[in-house]
Amino acid sequence: MSQSETSIDQHALAEVLEGLRQPQKTISPKYFYDARGSDLFEQITRLDAYYPTRTEMGILRNSGPEIGKVIGPDAIIVEFGSGNSEKIHLLLDVLDRPRAYVPIDISAEHMEAAAAGIDADYPSLTVIPVAGDYTKPMHLPGHSALDGARLTGFFPGSTIGNFPPEEAEAFLVTARDILDGGDLLIGADLQKDPAVLNLAYNDPEGVTAAFNLNMLPHLNQLIGTDFDAGAFEHHAFYNEVLGRIEMHLVSQAAQIVHIGGSAVSFAADETIHTESSHKYTLEGFAALAARAGWRTAQTWCDAKPWFSLHLLTPA
Ligand code: SAH
Ligand code: AVI
Repeated sequence: MSQSETSIDQHALAEVLEGLRQPQKTISPKYFYDARGSDLFEQITRLDAYYPTRTEMGILRNSGPEIGKVIGPDAIIVEFGSGNSEKIHLLLDVLDRPRAYVPIDISAEHMEAAAAGIDADYPSLTVIPVAGDYTKPMHLPGHSALDGARLTGFFPGSTIGNFPPEEAEAFLVTARDILDGGDLLIGADLQKDPAVLNLAYNDPEGVTAAFNLNMLPHLNQLIGTDFDAGAFEHHAFYNEVLGRIEMHLVSQAAQIVHIGGSAVSFAADETIHTESSHKYTLEGFAALAARAGWRTAQTWCDAKPWFSLHLLTPA
């Protein structure tokens, strides 16, 4: 076997190929996140048009003391999709003697750098970084700090909205198992004026377009495809029927892309659906959580309300 074959992620290759064989070509949004993708996402969070990050952080600031009290002392926080771990600061600062922090992220380099920063900022906190895919069955690492301890999950950003509804439910079931009786603090973006939503995913600076297109060079490096990112364009729109933003990459011409030993053809204007970002109602989100065996203990929103944070407890 050649060097390039051994370094290819065969599981990712099979998963991407399966998605490209569907009538609506689809690739999971988890493939946005190499080091450049994580950096582009961080730039998105600072855009005027992208309201979710600052809105959720505002809720964490305003309701932090109450949230800290509900979570209680000696917390062990497991964060799903921790990214640059910016939001965890707001939570750690309102908790009484937090014991440990377990960031889980697929973008290993970016997450490990962020985890090292948390380690340095909170000397009495045990930081246990986990590089991995939270859609796969997973066990937390054996660590004395976690033995027999009560865990609290943290899943901010409305990253839950990037799953199709049935996968969101499956994720919430898996999270309930991982947290083993512990609560989950989770962010969910809310339905609002489509103009606000459309702008948030079509920023004038073009950062979201660069983030969407970055999936192609990432896949070229990860699984050896020969995508030409210059031959695709970013397209994002709010689908009011399904209550979700859809992001697509639109093929600018008829073309063939090679993946493993296979050739995948694209017609001009054919798209790859790269991400959905579901926008919820408060009732709809509580119903989703209930289907996965969670009861909504408390909900916090901003004044508009544009974003919601929910404390879920096993039903
Ligand atoms: N929690 C941060 C980052 C959200 S971006 C915030 O609220 O701003 C989504 C994060 O989830 C990225 O850091 C990405 O690398 C990570 N991610 C996406 N899919 C993942 C998966 N399947 N497994 C683990 N991490 C994933
Ligand atoms: C990570 N996730 C919640 C973001 C979202 O808004 O769905 C990813 C993103 N896609 C485009 N802009 C931001």
